Amino acid sequence: MKRRLSPATVVVEAGRPVRTPGAPVNSPIVMSSTYVGHEQPGPGELVYARIGTESWEPLEEALGQLENAGRPGLLFASGMAAISAALDLTPVGGAVVAPRHAYHESLVALRHQAERSGVRPRLVDIADTAAVLAAIRGESSEAATDADATDSVDAGPASLVWLETPTNPMLEIADIAAISQAAHEVGAIVVVDNTFATPLLQRPLELGADVVVHSVTKYLAGHSDVILGAVVARDEQLLARVKQRRTTAGGVAGPFEAWLALRGLRTLALRVERAQANAHELARRLQEHPAVHAVAYPGLPDHPQHELATRQMDGYGSILTLRVRGGAAAAARLTGNVHLWLPATSLGGVESMVERRRRWPNEAPTVPEDLLRVSVGIEDVEDLWADLDQALRASQED
Ligand SMILES: Cc1ncc(COP(=O)(O)O)c(C=O)c1O
Repeated sequence: MKRRLSPATVVVEAGRPVRTPGAPVNSPIVMSSTYVGHEQPGPGELVYARIGTESWEPLEEALGQLENAGRPGLLFASGMAAISAALDLTPVGGAVVAPRHAYHESLVALRHQAERSGVRPRLVDIADTAAVLAAIRGESSEAATDADATDSVDAGPASLVWLETPTNPMLEIADIAAISQAAHEVGAIVVVDNTFATPLLQRPLELGADVVVHSVTKYLAGHSDVILGAVVARDEQLLARVKQRRTTAGGVAGPFEAWLALRGLRTLALRVERAQANAHELARRLQEHPAVHAVAYPGLPDHPQHELATRQMDGYGSILTLRVRGGAAAAARLTGNVHLWLPATSLGGVESMVERRRRWPNEAPTVPEDLLRVSVGIEDVEDLWADLDQALRASQED
């Protein structure tokens, strides 16, 4: 039996061209919208680049291997294109259980589905497993349903469970195995947005989920220079349905973006290792900072789901949040006073970024006004600390 490679090796090795003398070690970028064909194309034959192109295949192969799907994934033009296609697996009128603190644009997409196709969102605290299971089963539980998610009578089992873990930006952890089991008992599909953890730190399909989505834009590509997304699944028919949505929606990835993302993926293991070591150290120091009144990081022992994160993940990632004394104004002063850190939205790049999430109108009102989401990069940790420390001090000066 072939020995299974570690994910740190897969990111380097997967998706290379076949080894023959004179073959390139990297796949070429093929700029062609269509392919020479015959009347009846054979299975897997390339016919038209909106349906499939060899420029996507190496990255699709690598993502399928990394998530242990047993088949290649599907590349999309953005994380949101991937998310929209996966959400479209919900039948008309179906109930969708989702975290109240998922990435806000995913929740907007879900709301649009509710308006257009009668989908019934049930927004829950995804860390409260009992409430999530009640929402999946459609049992009436005040904790399980969000009063303003829908006005209609909402009963019966869910059709789809949307998980994001850790959540953006609140860093709550969902119990993927327990939730997947309960979802499958009622015939629901489980989709996990694995953007924050990456397949190096968490592999949802191995824990029982059916579909994984990624914003490849973030850690996988890793250099804040490309927008891309992906869907990965084990089940061939499920993936074929998602592929059909990609082909008909038609907003597909460009060959150069796919090539750039694969180039970025090659260093994922090194970047994740360094960034999460930095994040862990900064989280510890921030807990002691006089300008900070709360820090959340799944690697801290006082994180409410620290034990679950330790069990479910192979590391805690490199996103943390902090709350600054002095409210939204102080948090805004901090982002206005950083010099090395980038005051920018997005995450998962080599460069460290900080932003106040409630500056976005669509962010959930339960996200505190003074909360800063911090994406820690791979710079020297002392340089990061020095800049953050001076900006925190500046945030306290009215
Ligand atoms: C968790 C998560 N999922 C999905 C997305 C959307 O990805 P994209 O910007 O590539 O469309 C984001 C973007 O911030 C995200 O944070």
